[in-house]
Amino acid sequence: MAAEHKTYEEAKAGIDETLKKMGLDYLDMMIIHSPQPWVEVNQSDNRYKEGNRQAWRALEEAYNEGKLKAIGVSNFQIEDIESLMETAKVKPMVNQILCHISNTPLELIDYCQKNDIAVEAYSPIAHGEILSQPEIKAIADKYGVSVPQLCIRYTLQLGTISLPKTENPEHMKSNAEVDFTISEEDMEVLKNFKKIENYGESSGFPVYGGKM
Ligand SMILES: NC(=O)c1ccc[n+]([C@@H]2O[C@H](COP(=O)([O-])OP(=O)(O)OC[C@H]3O[C@@H](n4cnc5c(N)ncnc54)[C@H](OP(=O)(O)O)[C@@H]3O)[C@@H](O)[C@H]2O)c1
Repeated sequence: MAAEHKTYEEAKAGIDETLKKMGLDYLDMMIIHSPQPWVEVNQSDNRYKEGNRQAWRALEEAYNEGKLKAIGVSNFQIEDIESLMETAKVKPMVNQILCHISNTPLELIDYCQKNDIAVEAYSPIAHGEILSQPEIKAIADKYGVSVPQLCIRYTLQLGTISLPKTENPEHMKSNAEVDFTISEEDMEVLKNFKKIENYGESSGFPVYGGKM
C-alpha cells in the first residue's frame, strides 16, 4: 500500500484499485510501505499515528473479506507498531525492514519476533554496497562463500525472511545456495559491523537516509 495513503478512504480505494488493475480477486499479502508518506521519510518527526490506524482499518477489512490473505507493515519502528496495536483488531503479520550486515536493528527484530510478527529483511546485500567492504569479503572467504551468500545466510540466521534481489540468473542460483552455518562468534562480529556511511549512487533513496 502506498505510503501516502493515510486515510481510510484512500487506503480502501487503493486496495480495490490494485486488485482491479491486476485483475485479481485477492492478493497473498499487502503491507503499508512506510509509517510516513515517502516524501517525509527521514525528513520529519510526524509518525502519522492516526493515518496509519486508518490505513490499517482498511487493510483489516480487506483481510476479513478475503481480498488479502495476509496484512502487514514496512519500515515500522517499535513505537509505530505499538501505536497501531492500540486500535488494531488484527495484529500485523509482517514487518519488512532494512536489515543487512552493518545495519541490523536488533531491538526491533527481537520485538517483532517476541510478538509473532515475521521480519522480512529487505536489501540484505545493502543494495550492492556491501560488495566493496574488504572485512566482509575476508569473512566470506573464510567460509568459502561469496559476499552475497554470507549476507543472505546472516539474515536467515537472525530468523528473518531474506529478500535479496538480482537481475542475473547466475546470482539468483548462487544466492539460494546458503547451506552453511556462520559461527556464533562471527555472527556477533557481523551484528556489530561498522555502519556503511555511504550507499553510493543509492544514497538518494529515502530509506538509506539514516533512521530505518
Ligand atoms: N519495503 C521497502 O521500503 C523496501 C525498500 C528497498 C527495497 N525493498 C525490497 O527489497 C528487495 C531487495 O532490495 P535491493 O535491491 O535494495 O537490495 P539487495 O538485494 O540488497 O541488493 C541488490 C544488488 O545486489 C546485487 N547482487 C545480488 N546478488 C548478487 C550476487 N550474487 N553477486 C553480485 N551482486 C549481487 C544486485 O545486482 P545484480 O542484479 O547484478 O545481481 C543488485 O545490485 C527488493 O525486492 C525491494 O523491493 C523494500
